[in-house]
Amino acid sequence: MTESGNRGEFYVPRKELAQAIAERLSLDPLMGSPSGLMLAAPRRTGKSTFLRRDLLPVLRARGDHPVLVDLWSDRKADPGQLIADALAAEIAAMPSPVERAARALPIKAITIGGLRAEIGGVAEGRSLTLTDALLEIGARAKSDVVFLIDEAQQAVTTEAGLDAMFALKAARDAMNQRPEGARLFVLCTGSNRDGLAGLLSTNQQPFYGARVEDFPTLGRPYVEALVAAINPRLAEDNKLDPEDVAAAFRLLGHRPEKLVEVVQQHAAWLPGSAGLKRTLQERADELRARVWDQYGSDFDGLTVLQRAVLEVLIRDGSDFAPFHEKTVQRIAGIAGRKTSAQAVQKALDALRDKQLVWRPGRGRYALEDPDMRDWLLARMAQG
Ligand SMILES: Nc1ncnc2c1ncn2[C@@H]1O[C@H](COP(=O)(O)OP(=O)(O)OP(=O)(O)O)[C@@H](O)[C@H]1O
Ligand SMILES: [Mg+2]
Repeated sequence: MTESGNRGEFYVPRKELAQAIAERLSLDPLMGSPSGLMLAAPRRTGKSTFLRRDLLPVLRARGDHPVLVDLWSDRKADPGQLIADALAAEIAAMPSPVERAARALPIKAITIGGLRAEIGGVAEGRSLTLTDALLEIGARAKSDVVFLIDEAQQAVTTEAGLDAMFALKAARDAMNQRPEGARLFVLCTGSNRDGLAGLLSTNQQPFYGARVEDFPTLGRPYVEALVAAINPRLAEDNKLDPEDVAAAFRLLGHRPEKLVEVVQQHAAWLPGSAGLKRTLQERADELRARVWDQYGSDFDGLTVLQRAVLEVLIRDGSDFAPFHEKTVQRIAGIAGRKTSAQAVQKALDALRDKQLVWRPGRGRYALEDPDMRDWLLARMAQG
């Protein structure tokens, strides 16, 4: 069941899920999702691991050519650039034998919304649009292309990113509506459900027609594998009960890192099975609260002004108009000091740097992790 990776980490394969999702990435009239597949799940529940370790191999095994880009891989980079770079790297790695021998790839670069990724071909080489690039990858691979975009909601934060998404739609229509040739399938994943929904809400949007679905969290097989890996190291009268571990996993929002932490603590300095049982019975709230640990430490690290900005952002939701006179005054009232639109702008930039806030469009701001909202409202209610 389990398999240790090269860094010796604990990893439980999800091959069946990978196969089920791969099946949806097809033109099959019943099982396929021709508009693209959009999967959302909370932070730290295993989305990226699944794409990399489970889905890529299954797609390759069935003969597709997958291309994966993580729009959170470099928070400072334009998402459009990350997409261009990923496609450029793919093409650069696919010269024909003749091109390789002559070191003469006839393609120079990919351009997306004014951004450019060099491929390094011959001087007179072509420059490709995103649509061209995907057609090119399909032609070179002689197979269907699956474009996997992790944290896809990030694309809408820049012009180039949005351009890339529209171009992706055009590429998909071009490739899938022709009588033959490589097909293109697109899978978007993300932690921000509303953000993903933004990619399909109107027919102007690239994935109109698709819908956001829940990406399944790790389940019982994961818990069983963890228990099976840990129990042999525990004393005979101290083994973990899979039922307890499964209950803890649920309380922890199906976050593997949190579960390992809790299990380790109980195995190391609280009597393993009995301790975990007691914690579940007497201190379930404590377990639940662990999920929010990170929010607490993030929030505590903010300045008074940043906290006030975050509070008003949460209270106003999609109506949040940060630079309006009235908003600035409310922020000042909460912070207990004078402030200005410029200072609010700086605070928002800092919140974005800290990855608490994202900008789904010019002048629009939202929580990056929507789950933080309830936590923060509860904390404010406590005063
Ligand atoms: N199948 C698995 N088996 C064991 N551990 C896993 C598995 N999938 C994920 N994990 C662990 O869970 C943690 C989170 O995984 P991952 O980074 O894939 O989640 P994510 O949902 O992409 O997170 P983020 O919201 O930060 O992008 C990692 O420590 C990872 O090792
Ligand atoms: Mg991830």
